[in-house]
Amino acid sequence: MQLLTIPTQPIEGQKPGTSGLRKKTRVFMGHHYLENFIQATFDAIGGAEGKSFVLGGDGRYFNDRAAQVILRMAAANGARKVIVGQGALLSTPAASHLIRLNRTDGGIILSASHNPGGLDEDFGVKFNMPNGGPAPEAVTEAIFARTKVIDSYRIVETMDVDLMKIGTQVIGNMEVCVIDPVADYASLMESLFDFPKMRALFAGGFRMRFDAMCAVTGPYATEILENRLGAPKGTVTHGTPLPDFGGMHPDPNPTWAHELMEEMMGPDAPEFGAASDGDGDRNMVVGRGIYVSPSDSLAVLAANAHLAPGYRAGLKGVARSMPTSAAADRVADALGIGRYETPTGWKFFGNLLDAGRATLCGEESFGTGSDHVREKDGLWAVLLWLNVLAERAETVHEILHQHWQSFGRNYYSRHDYEALPVAQADAIMNGLRGRLADLPGQTVEGMRIASADDFAYEDPVDGSVSSGQGIRIAFEGGSRFVLRLSGTGTEGATIRLYLERFIPGPEGLEDEVQKALAPMIRAAEALAGIRAASGRAAPDVVT
Ligand code: G1P
Ligand code: ZN
Repeated sequence: MQLLTIPTQPIEGQKPGTSGLRKKTRVFMGHHYLENFIQATFDAIGGAEGKSFVLGGDGRYFNDRAAQVILRMAAANGARKVIVGQGALLSTPAASHLIRLNRTDGGIILSASHNPGGLDEDFGVKFNMPNGGPAPEAVTEAIFARTKVIDSYRIVETMDVDLMKIGTQVIGNMEVCVIDPVADYASLMESLFDFPKMRALFAGGFRMRFDAMCAVTGPYATEILENRLGAPKGTVTHGTPLPDFGGMHPDPNPTWAHELMEEMMGPDAPEFGAASDGDGDRNMVVGRGIYVSPSDSLAVLAANAHLAPGYRAGLKGVARSMPTSAAADRVADALGIGRYETPTGWKFFGNLLDAGRATLCGEESFGTGSDHVREKDGLWAVLLWLNVLAERAETVHEILHQHWQSFGRNYYSRHDYEALPVAQADAIMNGLRGRLADLPGQTVEGMRIASADDFAYEDPVDGSVSSGQGIRIAFEGGSRFVLRLSGTGTEGATIRLYLERFIPGPEGLEDEVQKALAPMIRAAEALAGIRAASGRAAPDVVT
C-alpha cells in the first residue's frame, strides 16, 4: 500500500449549497473533482488524523466508486475508523443516527437527494457534523475557501474494500467497519413508536402503500413495515435501490410520485400512502382520496405527537423553515410552546434541536423530523403518522378535516420556475427587492400588504446571522407569498414562489387549493412579474 500526495489545482464552483455540493455526475467524475472536495473537507475540519467517520450514500450512480475513493483518502489523511453501510448504502437519517450513536467525528453522505441519478444526472456530497447534522455555514464556507487554494490531496493506493462483506477490514491503520445499514435505524424507530399497536393495526386489515421510488428507503421500509410491523408483503413498492432509480425522479411529491397518487385517489385505494426521496429524508403522506401538504403534515404531527411513546412528554417547541406555512405556528401557540422560523435548509434546525428548544421541525419541501436525529427523516414521519392513525382509529381525511376546524386552514402551494437563465432570475428577484420599502400599505388584488422584507435570521442559540433568505410579502389576515432562489439546482436558476392563504373557518375550508390561492397567484404575478419576465406561461412544477 502506497501513500501518495497528488498535486492538484483549485477547481471553480465547489461551493456547497442548501445541502452539500451537488453537481452533474460527470462533473463529479472529472479529474480530481471529488478528491479536491474531500481533501478540502478534511482540511476545513482540522484534518482527519485519529478521527472516525460514517460513510454511505443513496446508491445512485458513482456512489460505490466515490465511496472507495473517500475511504482511501480517509486512510491517507490518518483517519482511525470509518463505519460504512453495506454496499455503501445509508439513508441520510440513518447516517445521522450512526454518527450520534457511535459518537464519530462526523460523516460523509453521498447523495443529490431527490435529484435524478445516473451518468447524465446528478451526484452530491455532504458533510455532517459530530451532532449528526449538516455542516453549518461556517464549515461549508471553510470547505469552499479550501477548495480555492488547494494544491494537493492525499490518497493511498490499494485494492477496493469489499463493501458487501459485513465486518471489519483495514486500509493501512484505518479500520473500515461494514455494517447493516438498516438495523440500528430500525431499533431507533422501535424505541420511539408503539410497534405493538401499529402491528395490531395491520393485523386488523389496515392497508398501506409505501413507494420507495427505487431509492434508498426500500430496504428500511421493507424491514420496518413488512418484517417488523407485519404489513403484507408487497406493501413497499419500488423497494430495491437502483443506480438510476429505475428512471424515476425520486422526489416524493404529487408530480413525481404520480403512481402512488393515482392509486391513492383511485377506487380501491389503501387507507394510507407514503413515499420518500433518493436519500430517504423526505416524505409525502397521502390518505385515501386526500393529499396532505407537508406544511399541514407538520402541523398535524405537532398536534398529535404526544400519542407516540417517544413524544409522550410533550414537545419543547416547533420549528419550520420560513417558506413553510404558518399552520404549525397555530398548533405551537395552542400548546403554549416555542415556535421558530428559520431559513430554508435543515442545517438551521440543528442549533434549536441541540439546545432543546425544538422537538419537531419541518419544511414545506416534504421534510419533517424531530430531535431523534439531526436530519429530516422520511420514514420517521410516516411511522409517526401510522402511530397516530393507530391511536386515534380515524382516517387521514377525518384527522385533517378536524385539524382545520380547530386551527383554521393555511391553503398552500409552491410554484417552481426551473432552469431560468441566471441573469433573468436575478433581475426578477432584484426588481422586487428594490421595491420592498414602498410596498407596505399598498393594495393588490384587493388585499392590503402588511409587510415586505428580505428574510434575515438571527440564530437564537449562537447569534449568527443569515441574510438574503427570501423575499416575503405578507398581507393583512395572515396570507402571504414568498420568493426565493433555489440553492440546490444544478442548471441555471430556479425561482420558487411560495403561496399561502389563511382561512380561519368554519366556512371556506373545503376549497380546491389552486382555486383558493388564485388571488395570491395574481398578486404575486402583479408584483414580481415572473411569467412576464421569463415568458413562461406556467410554473414547471406545482406542489
Ligand atoms: C430544497 C428545499 C429545501 C430543502 C433542500 C434540501 O432547497 O426547498 O427546503 O432543505 O432542498 O432537501 P432549495 O432548492 O429550495 O434551495
Ligand atoms: Zn433528500
